[in-house]
Amino acid sequence: MGTVLYIKANARRDASRTFEISDRFVTVYQKNHPQDEIITLDLYQERIDFLKEEDLYLHRLSPEEGRNHPVLKYTYQFLDADKYVFAEPLWNLGVPAILKAYFDYICISGITFKYTETGPVGLCQGKKAVNITTRGGEYSEGSLALLEMGDRYIKTILGFLGVTDYTTIAANNLDVIGIDIDAIVNEAIREAEELARSF
Ligand SMILES: Cc1cc2nc3c(=O)[nH]c(=O)nc-3n(C[C@H](O)[C@H](O)[C@H](O)COP(=O)(O)O)c2cc1C
Repeated sequence: MGTVLYIKANARRDASRTFEISDRFVTVYQKNHPQDEIITLDLYQERIDFLKEEDLYLHRLSPEEGRNHPVLKYTYQFLDADKYVFAEPLWNLGVPAILKAYFDYICISGITFKYTETGPVGLCQGKKAVNITTRGGEYSEGSLALLEMGDRYIKTILGFLGVTDYTTIAANNLDVIGIDIDAIVNEAIREAEELARSF
């Protein structure tokens, strides 16, 4: 039995195209992996906040203290999971700020990574992640691809933590007028369903 952490980062909940795709991924995953536990973490519901000054010393807490701490409980929850499903739209070329704040919660030295004589080493190795994202324009290819810092950030920071098995499912052009948006979303749902079976 494994644990899947489903991390949702979007202020828009009911009409979210991102969540339409990611919820489908999770539904198909659960059907194909009935023994696994899926923990859904809606970052807005959790009220993830910016780190405060006192939060900069959290790495000094023992695991016993940390597991009940309002910030570190997320770090240990991340460490304990086997797989991650991220779902977020592209906002201003990056991830929604609440998702960055969540990464500030979970990137804690001594828990999810450590410093060594040869540099930092991720402590979340052997796990895998999928990032499901949507964008108003086209960022998977073409002139805007280099400006995309959302998916690229998640992939990079997860690699820092040791999670290198990483897949992206992206639906582009969802705000382009006149385009067949349903067709793009449906194609992303098809991709999500296919990956969910073998993830
Ligand atoms: C605050 C905000 C910032 C956005 N910034 C970008 C952007 O930089 N590039 C882009 O292509 N789309 C941008 N968009 C559009 C969203 O990425 C797009 O509409 C996405 O599909 C929304 O997903 P949702 O339906 O799940 O909310 C932005 C939307 C919002 C609300």
